Amino acid sequence: MTVPKSEYLSNAWADGIFANRVLFITGGAGSIGSAQTRAIVHLGADACIIGRSVEKTEAAAKEIAKVRSGARVLGIGGVDVRNFESLKSAADRCAKELGGIDYVIAGAAGNFISPISGLSANAFKAVIDIDTIGTFNTVKATMPYLIESAAKNPNPNPSQTTGGRVISTSATFHYTGMPLQAHVSAAKAAVDSLMGSVSLEYGPYGVTANSIAPGPIEGTEGMERLASSQIDQRSRNKHIPSGRWGVVRDIADATVYLFSDAGSYVNGTILVVDGAAWRRQGGL
Ligand code: HXC
Repeated sequence: MTVPKSEYLSNAWADGIFANRVLFITGGAGSIGSAQTRAIVHLGADACIIGRSVEKTEAAAKEIAKVRSGARVLGIGGVDVRNFESLKSAADRCAKELGGIDYVIAGAAGNFISPISGLSANAFKAVIDIDTIGTFNTVKATMPYLIESAAKNPNPNPSQTTGGRVISTSATFHYTGMPLQAHVSAAKAAVDSLMGSVSLEYGPYGVTANSIAPGPIEGTEGMERLASSQIDQRSRNKHIPSGRWGVVRDIADATVYLFSDAGSYVNGTILVVDGAAWRRQGGL
């Protein structure tokens, strides 16, 4: 079944704005990652989806390719973001088969609910390794391609580049701290810090580096598997200033904005997409 466009993209964007561009995404088979990929592919790009499971990654690639006739979506499974060499091979293969890498999303994440008393040092480290080191590895493996993409600068305005963009998927927990998520809060704080440094080091090459921090998003693994037992489903919307949980399309639209010409001067920032939830109660 083809996913209807209204589920992953608003009507704000023009078809073809990402034509001849290539997206490289870790965690692209997940609920948020696949909506981000659908949106970018729908608007003209080809994509490489990177994941640990070969089966899940290839199936997601096949499914996402249906959003646009002629779209090339490559699923590269068997890649763990904790392993730099396997990510580097995936980036090289993606660039070789699809002609380069213009946009990167570091979306792979690991999570489980646990009080600090239930966390071993290794459990804490497992999430730091996936979220923080995984984002570092993704940036490092793809940066040569992003620099190349930014240097092509096909935009008629020389002050704007239309390629060479990287986004990490962050969270809002670390703004206040979050019970049962000490490991994830620490990992995402480090991700935000890393992206700031990336923007400073690579801004002069025309590359932009930003984070998107989603709030509670309906239908995602994070909220369904991990958080549902912590939240009173009947009153959940009352706690969000915007009056509703987010949907994956909210995150996909934010991604399109940051990758589009409209986002070319947005660099080194965190785009919080949460209906102001974290200001009320830390994000959940
Ligand atoms: C305490 C736990 C635990 C739990 C695992 N560990 N689950 N400790 N409570 N529920 C401990 C293990 O005992 C071990 O420590 C260490 O963590 C590593 O576990 P492994 O299973 O060996 O690691 P690994 O196979 O690498 O798996 C990593 C993982 C796993 C993070 C534990 O859940 C995973 O791969 N997740 C990927 C998918 C995922 O989580 N997606 C959700 C993203 S959503 P010891 O000491 O025994 O060696 C998201 C947003 C959520 O990020 C926002 C809403 C809450």
